[in-house]
Amino acid sequence: MDEAALQQALTDTQNLGEMPDADAVGTVGSPDCGDMVRMWIKYKDKDGQKVIDKASFQSFGCQTAIAVASIATQLIRGKTKEEALTLSAEELSKPLGPLPPMKIHCGQMVEGALRAALEAEQKAAPAAATPVVADQSGTLADALSAAGKTQGKIKIVLTS
Ligand code: FES
Repeated sequence: MDEAALQQALTDTQNLGEMPDADAVGTVGSPDCGDMVRMWIKYKDKDGQKVIDKASFQSFGCQTAIAVASIATQLIRGKTKEEALTLSAEELSKPLGPLPPMKIHCGQMVEGALRAALEAEQKAAPAAATPVVADQSGTLADALSAAGKTQGKIKIVLTS
């Protein structure tokens, strides 16, 4: 992983925070470390096509997850849902260079949250590799709290 690129992405974190007027939201937690990412998506009409206007995220996650989520929210702007669904964790984390084995799930968690949000409007449940938190209301802190009550152990990693 390119440490300089990681630090740059963190210094320049984009689209952090809730989006009250979002059209869709998706949340995924990593069973590997207990971290979570939630993504919001807002669509707009462009030349008769529905494209992603903007996206934002919240994360109680490691720095890698935050950096990848920030990159992802920038990458998907202007794309259709179908185009965004083709993006893999590798593509989302590409600006950071190849992730070390212990950090691969960080990118996959962001991909999972993105897919959950993209598929939120579809009726079929998303086939995510990691568990999708059913409760999409409130903040990520609410979800963490609820998950902690039902699952017993959620590790909250505070990053600065
Ligand atoms: S999301 Fe688990 S260590 Fe990065």
